[in-house]
Amino acid sequence: MNDFRFVDDELHCEGVSITSIAEKVGTPFYLYSHETLCRHLQAFDGAFSDIPHLTAFAVKSNSNLAVLKLVANQGMGADIVSGGELYRVLQAGIAPDKIVFAGVGKDPEEIKYALETGIRMFNVESGEELQAINDVAVRLGKKARVALRVNPDVDPQTHPYIATGLKKSKFGIGSKFALESCVAAAKLSAIEVVGVHMHIGSQLTKVSPFVDAVKRLLGLVEQVRDRGIELQYLNIGGGLGISYADETPPHPDDLAAALLPLLKGLNVTLVLEPGRVIVGNAGILVTKVLYTKDGDGKRFLIVDAAMNDLLRPSLYEAYHEIRAVTRTKRDAVVVDVVGPICESGDFLAKDRELPEMKSGELLAVMSAGAYAFTMASNYNARPRVPEVLVRDTEMHVIRAREVYADLVRGEQIPAFLQ
Ligand code: LLP
Repeated sequence: MNDFRFVDDELHCEGVSITSIAEKVGTPFYLYSHETLCRHLQAFDGAFSDIPHLTAFAVKSNSNLAVLKLVANQGMGADIVSGGELYRVLQAGIAPDKIVFAGVGKDPEEIKYALETGIRMFNVESGEELQAINDVAVRLGKKARVALRVNPDVDPQTHPYIATGLKKSKFGIGSKFALESCVAAAKLSAIEVVGVHMHIGSQLTKVSPFVDAVKRLLGLVEQVRDRGIELQYLNIGGGLGISYADETPPHPDDLAAALLPLLKGLNVTLVLEPGRVIVGNAGILVTKVLYTKDGDGKRFLIVDAAMNDLLRPSLYEAYHEIRAVTRTKRDAVVVDVVGPICESGDFLAKDRELPEMKSGELLAVMSAGAYAFTMASNYNARPRVPEVLVRDTEMHVIRAREVYADLVRGEQIPAFLQ
């Protein structure tokens, strides 16, 4: 987070004061640091440089075109989960052969789009999906490269909503069916089985679940190869956590140090799908205090950002650090930071100690680069907020604030109501 720091009591992003950005674009807004993004991409990708690998950025974490273009410029690829994400990454210039397509429910139109684009591979999550991909590929006269997503049944020790590698979860093919699924897949005329995939969860703060899961996959790789299927890729998904509060997640180098010895001599290209670890701490949400209010035994800071802008606190009770943008020596008070939306669940922080704030003052909600803007909605008919990228001493608006006309785009009143 050292690209967001105080200079003379004013929080800056690199060389630009956040207050000055607020004066130009209004509030609320998302703000990303170019320097942090580049550093995180390089640190992650560099950690695995000893073996052939593809870093496929998880687009769901942050899908702004400028962010994706930066990923493309660094030579990295994309992990996508929808036709819409495919469209975005192509717009940003990510090479098709660096795109991997995951998700439990790809529809035939999306499959067709991906096959026509020539993506590197599909991560397949069920037998029926495999059949659907084969059918579309036959129709197009193409061959689909697939990796089977295996559910290794390990506990990632994270929030239950973002744990995906336990056998009760909807993701992947159960370990006990994995071998037969690979063999069945290889028999389909338009399918080429090229790899196995896993993704066990997000915001993992330990290396051990990755190690356990990879070990389980290695046995499978061997068995599949024994059946004459030449696997070229081992995709271990994303999931490396970040520090929101006092977590101490492993550095990508630690993850690589734990995994690379296991992969020695395996002769595969490793595919990685990091999202949060790249963008999470490269972004913040800046919001303004509208009102302060003393309830019965509670104090509220009512701010202009809400759960439609940043859903994570409401959805996962996620903790995001909040800082006053202008440092003050005022006394600390305990407050709930809440938004204008008509829901009790609309909060950014509860029972949080913050310096006494006044109407019009700015707050920075930290660690808001991942699963933040991408999960924003227009609930309560609130225009989505702008996104700004700072590079050194320059600021660039990379997504304009929505206007009211955007809110009704595509809607029509049928003639009988006119
Ligand atoms: N690969 C696959 C197949 C995934 O499903 C995900 C995330 C990733 C990669 C990237 O994971 P990461 O490196 O970012 O942990 N909205 C939640 C997180 C949902 C994660 C979904 N899958 C949150 O705000 O915490």
